[in-house]
Amino acid sequence: MIRVLKDKHIVLGVTGSIAAFKAAGLASQLTQAGANVDVVMTREAAQFITPLTLESLTHRPVVTDVMALLANSEIGHVALGRGADLLLVAPATAHTIAKLALGLADDAVSATALDTRAPLVIAPAMETGMWEHAATRENVQKLAARGAVVVEPDVGHLASGASGQGRLAELDDIIDVVRATLGRGGDLAGRKIVVTAGGTQEPMDPVRVIANHSSGKMGFALAECARDRGARVTLIAGTTALRTPRGMEFMTAKQACEMQDAVLGSITDADALIMAAAVADFRPARAEEQKIKKGDTDTLTLQLVKNPDILRQVKAWREQTHHAMIVVGFAAETQDLVANAQAKLQAKQLDLIVANPVPQSFGSDKEQAILIERGGPMREMPPLTKEELAEEILGFIAKRLQTPLL
Ligand code: C5P
Repeated sequence: MIRVLKDKHIVLGVTGSIAAFKAAGLASQLTQAGANVDVVMTREAAQFITPLTLESLTHRPVVTDVMALLANSEIGHVALGRGADLLLVAPATAHTIAKLALGLADDAVSATALDTRAPLVIAPAMETGMWEHAATRENVQKLAARGAVVVEPDVGHLASGASGQGRLAELDDIIDVVRATLGRGGDLAGRKIVVTAGGTQEPMDPVRVIANHSSGKMGFALAECARDRGARVTLIAGTTALRTPRGMEFMTAKQACEMQDAVLGSITDADALIMAAAVADFRPARAEEQKIKKGDTDTLTLQLVKNPDILRQVKAWREQTHHAMIVVGFAAETQDLVANAQAKLQAKQLDLIVANPVPQSFGSDKEQAILIERGGPMREMPPLTKEELAEEILGFIAKRLQTPLL
């Protein structure tokens, strides 16, 4: 279940591209995430993928016939997209894009698009020549100028065997854009939130690093959740294997010092900072230029120097500038969880600290967290998914931002 998609009414318009088969994946993922998906198709799309497939995935009737749609404007729940929260046209052919730009309405998808006032997201898929043609460029620009959100096609293998731009964007990317579009006007609209995620890697030599087990999942969930609530998000990622989410500013910073620069450079206009990254406390005093050889000795002594504590730097910067910002930190501890977390909350002048017992915290899908607010209550949460915990943390931030500072 994804909060911003839950119970939302999404009309999925499918048009006649070979990528139409991917609409099944979109319909399925959106439905599983909690949305009510009504599919409208062109006749050409119905030759690539059957309405029955989409009906079976969405458990709702599929509309393919514009005449039926116009003759009876109340077909099931679909009244030409009225009442829809969003219209997603995916895949959108060059032909359909041209029709939408002109305001034609001679098939079920273009008629729905003309009638609805819901936000429009278009994911084009076509041969490179068609995508690059001046007519398509103009039509896409026209739609974007009217407020449509265009998920640019990817570059890669095309059905013709050629390679170029025109592949339907990855489904996860399309869903990211749908989430961000639905989230506009959420309780964090107009706010900027900076999130750090993942681990850091401190080089010993050209091939070795000192790293940690952080997966980045918590920080990414926080960034996605903030985006879905309307925030402008900057995600600063250390080491992670996760896909780069859409709908936010994304930066990588693998070493603690790089992360410090990225954070200090991003927070100048931020309303909140969430430091979910597992930042290395120490780094090798020097990164050797050549690979360290094992030689004949049985031990190797590595000298480490302390990394800057980013949250302490942020505290100093806030004291200097009086910049009002909510700051959330994390404390992964093997012992004395609450006492250690409380000490960090004070020392780093945080508004909230999320205390996690190790080893549950790294890479797992459920979080056992205690949320400790400065000058406020301590809440021991039940086991939550990272998305659920992210919602709790963002809920705290949204509430604090709504309360005027005394
Ligand atoms: O002091 P400790 O590293 O346990 O504190 C954890 C919190 O401090 C996390 O929010 C982490 O992102 C942040 N941190 C930091 N700079 C460091 C180390 C940790 O900002 N060098």
